[in-house]
Formats: sequence, structure tokens, C-alpha cells
Amino acid sequence: MPQTVLLTLPLADKLLDATFGDVRMLQFQGEASLSNPQWCSVLKEADAVLCTLTTAFDREVFAQAPRLKVLSSVSVGVDHIDLETATSRGVAVGHTPGVLVDSTADLAIGLMLASCRRLVEGDRLIRSGQWGEGWTTGFFLGTDLSGATVGLVGLGAIGQAVARRLQGFGARVLGWNRTPRSVPGVEIVDLDALLTTADIVSLHTALVPETYQLMDSGRISLMKPGATLINTARGGLVDETALIAALQSGRLQAGLDVYAREPLPPQSPLLTLDNVVMAPHIGSATAATRAAMLQRALQNLRLGLAGEALPFCANPEVYAERRV
Ligand code: DGY
Repeated sequence: MPQTVLLTLPLADKLLDATFGDVRMLQFQGEASLSNPQWCSVLKEADAVLCTLTTAFDREVFAQAPRLKVLSSVSVGVDHIDLETATSRGVAVGHTPGVLVDSTADLAIGLMLASCRRLVEGDRLIRSGQWGEGWTTGFFLGTDLSGATVGLVGLGAIGQAVARRLQGFGARVLGWNRTPRSVPGVEIVDLDALLTTADIVSLHTALVPETYQLMDSGRISLMKPGATLINTARGGLVDETALIAALQSGRLQAGLDVYAREPLPPQSPLLTLDNVVMAPHIGSATAATRAAMLQRALQNLRLGLAGEALPFCANPEVYAERRV
């Protein structure tokens, strides 16, 4: 009997035919919630799933998927998946590290520049017809990225790619990583020193239970008045309520690509603030990067279906577990 692959994202038939042999494809595009009987029924049949970061796989969802052996996510982050449960059920979880490093680092720099140089605010000013005066010496002043001290929270591949870019700008770069590591051109400091020294704090750490709301109200209050928080990693790293309070008071500014809830709810106070530049979770959103992510995810899926180890596996311990 052919294996069943559940797809929660639309994929061209051509791509699927070229990737897989004799498998049964189930395309699902509804609400992936256990209150949706259609979702529960497709989960029951799936030997493998291809999903994105918008489909949560927690203990309850796994319990509805008794046949599941491979879960391939088109994302590097796997915080939408309960890895412990996956491992204990023998489900190999695939992800897409490496290929989105440069796109995400570029966006972090873009948000830093947009924030320091007030680009979005300037665009809004012109469009609203309020650019009354021409060029004057004190008009619309920002700060220089080249003269800034930037603190990188997380020095994995993306943090390091941001550091390389910042060195090109001539910025001073500080860094902190949960497991200490040295990175060329980065002054390693402890987290509190980073927060109290940096003009810009940029988050590049994975969201795991230990980093949930790493930027809590205490740490946010350590940031220098006038400093900028950049987040292209995950909304869950920040206590968003505390950040909003700091932005509302005018003490901080921010450049955000990710949020506690996505899409951002229309009632979010962030929408009313001029001192935050926002992007809709587009760190990896270039055509080339998304194609590379998909290719990596399909490779994981194909090899997983063939009973082989996933080349990009987020829970490699699953193989040891399977041998027991
Ligand atoms: C990821 O892959 O985790 C990114 O957040 C997608 O942009």
C-alpha cells in the first residue's frame, strides 16, 4: 500500500511528481486545528507531513497522527513542533537550516537602517503631504549605524552573518550566546553588559523553552534610553507587552519582523506607534531562499519516506530511540 503524504501548503504537481515515487498525496488547506474534523481525519492517514511554521504539532496533534514517521517543515525554526513528543513517538522532524541565513541577516540590517534613519516614518510623512519645509539642518535627524554599538543576542549562523555585515558598516559589535563561543570581530560580553551598552540589540537565538521571553520586562529595562530592539527571530523571545510599554513611553524604538501572535492582531498597540518599523515575518522571503528551503524540505521528506535518516533533522536523537 503506498504511503500517504499530507501537504499543508500548495505545491505544483510537477514538483511533486519529480520528487516522489508511488505515494498518495493529501492536500489540506483548511484550518489545522483539532476542532476541525477534516484536519483530524487527514492526520490519521498521514505517514509523512510537509508543513510550514504556521501548523502547530503539539502532543495532542501527534496523538491524532498514529502512522506519522516523518514531519518535514519548510522552516529552520521548529518551535511550532513539540520535539520531545516527536522523538518519543519515533517521528523524525526535518527543517531547513543554512539556506536562509543571508536573507534573514539582510533583513535585520534593513530594519536597523530603517529604524536608525527613520525611513518608514519619512515615507509616511511625504505621502501624508506633511513635508512642509524643505531641507533644514535639524530636520528628521536619526542616528548612524556606522557609529553604533550593536549587541547580537545569539551567535549562530544568522548572528554571525549579521556581525559580518555590521563590520562592513564600521559598527562596534558585541555578542552573547547561550553556549559561549568566539566569533571574529565580535566582543563577547555577558547579556546584561550587552543590553546596557548597545545602541541596537538584535535577536538571533532560537525560540526554545529556555529562551521564551528572554527579553522580559527586566531585560528590556536594561536597554539604554534611545536604543533600538531588532527582532527577526521569533516573537516569543520578547515580552511584547513590556516592549510596547517601552515604545509607548518613547524610551526605546524597534524594528520587528516577528510577533507574539502572527498575523499581528488589528488591535495591537504596535500599529499606533511611530517608533517601530514592522515587517510581516519576511526574513526568508526571497524567491531564491524560499526555493532553497522547499528543496531542502522535500529532500527531507523524500529520504524520510524511503526510511533513510533526514539530512537536516531537528531531532537526530530519534534514530537512537528507534534502535532501542
Ligand atoms: C524560519 O524558517 O524559521 C523563518 O522564520 C522563516 O522566515
